[in-house]
Amino acid sequence: MITEKIQFFAEMQKQGLALTFDDVRLRTDRSSVTPTNVKITSRFSTHVELKVPIVSAAMDTVTTANMAIAVAKIGGIGVIHAGLTPEEQRIEVRRVKLHLNGFVEKPVTAKDDQTMAEVIAMCEEKQFDFKTFPVVNSKGKFVGLLTQNDFDFSDKSTLVRNAMTPSKDATTAPASISVESAYDLMREHKKKTLPIIEKDGTLGGMYVFSDVKRIAEGNPDQYNLDENGSLRVAAAVPTDDGALERVRLMHKYVDVVVIDTAQGDSDFAVDTLKKLKAEFPDIDVVVGNISEGASARALAEAGADGIKVGQGPGSICTTRTETGIGCPQVTAVYECARAVREAGYNIPVCADGGIKDPGDISIAIAAGADSVMMGGRLAGTKEAPGQILELEDGSRVKLYRGMGSPSALRDSAASRKRYGITEGVVGKPLAEGVESYVPYKGEVFNVLDRFMKALRKSMSYVGAPDIAAHQKNTMFWRITGSGLRESHPHDVRVVSRT
Ligand code: XMP
Repeated sequence: MITEKIQFFAEMQKQGLALTFDDVRLRTDRSSVTPTNVKITSRFSTHVELKVPIVSAAMDTVTTANMAIAVAKIGGIGVIHAGLTPEEQRIEVRRVKLHLNGFVEKPVTAKDDQTMAEVIAMCEEKQFDFKTFPVVNSKGKFVGLLTQNDFDFSDKSTLVRNAMTPSKDATTAPASISVESAYDLMREHKKKTLPIIEKDGTLGGMYVFSDVKRIAEGNPDQYNLDENGSLRVAAAVPTDDGALERVRLMHKYVDVVVIDTAQGDSDFAVDTLKKLKAEFPDIDVVVGNISEGASARALAEAGADGIKVGQGPGSICTTRTETGIGCPQVTAVYECARAVREAGYNIPVCADGGIKDPGDISIAIAAGADSVMMGGRLAGTKEAPGQILELEDGSRVKLYRGMGSPSALRDSAASRKRYGITEGVVGKPLAEGVESYVPYKGEVFNVLDRFMKALRKSMSYVGAPDIAAHQKNTMFWRITGSGLRESHPHDVRVVSRT
């Protein structure tokens, strides 16, 4: 890091001042890079790379397989939350890992003796945005295919078996078919789905054309892929032996395990880290959360492959107000990154929480982060778990809740563990987060596309050709309340913005 940056933060330290995103702006500098030629590749952990420095939060209203798939396709990585049972979590992780095989192992089916009204009700309840269902009978045998046309042209009281295309007229394939042959067959017959039929006539899975096409035509450069060409995925685990049980179930599919606790600088976290590394030396383990340099150094010494920084900056967090602890995020990231690097460890730092504006990502990286984890900005997207709700004023929202919110503590043992709540506590457990609604935002691609364009633009303003240069050279201005006011649109009535 350049001396000016070290001096800047040392001066703040001297005054006992810790800063967060709205306290600073980045200083522009002579630039010979354009937004399109800056490199934003980075790492989440020692061995796991990122094409974009984005990680989706291990929260039950943010990351299950759908979010992790979408984020990995944009070049980042998703952390499947630990509020699931070990088996459920394994299934979600595996779904991400196998996604690019183009093969849906357990497609949603319709039953031949259901009415169309029942199938429509299921689609509405589960908010499915597809209308193709293999149809099975009571013995699980494939008997036909229900497609959009059948929904459009059948009476609601019609039985599925009378509305569907019967199996003899449907295009199907045996389980032995390769992805390439499936692609050829689907093209030849102009079919968007291809049910796979086992020798005994049961449904063995389904190929989906859009996925198969992508594989057959080659993967776009942007995907964050492992050495086998599968999407990368991470999973959160609690700080106890439950962590080992989870990783034993999912180690074949997971790229990074994240030890997820509100106090990462703890005996429990270090003990879990050591046990995980002893049994799974080849899997990267990221540990968090912390907010002090000494904690970062301690976790690096204990063998962490990555460190996650952030105690209380999150949009749904109440840890700071309930307990009074926590270092504001820009200083926390700077101190942790510097401590690790000065001690000679080459392990990445992830800035977790508090990202509100796209510019905050660039600020976090300039403070030393290798990646940022986001919850609130990704919640409310189509890929986030949960239903779209319509409020009385007509606005569409989704639920976003802290993992330490009252309902998460009630619903999830992992949340109770994260916040150190021992079973059998008398009275209500202390909540450290809130439940909220966030606007429905559509596809996560659109949110992250804007964020990544903004990061590239920011790096071009400061003249940083890559993440390492941005971390090292970009300098800060400490701003005042007036500077912050000036940073936002002011003295106008805004009629349009991104
Ligand atoms: P953002 O700002 O992206 O923050 O919404 C997401 C991060 O917040 C953390 N998190 C919590 N912190 N109480 C807390 O103090 C909570 O209930 C809570 N739930 C999540 C977590 O690190 C997440 O990535």
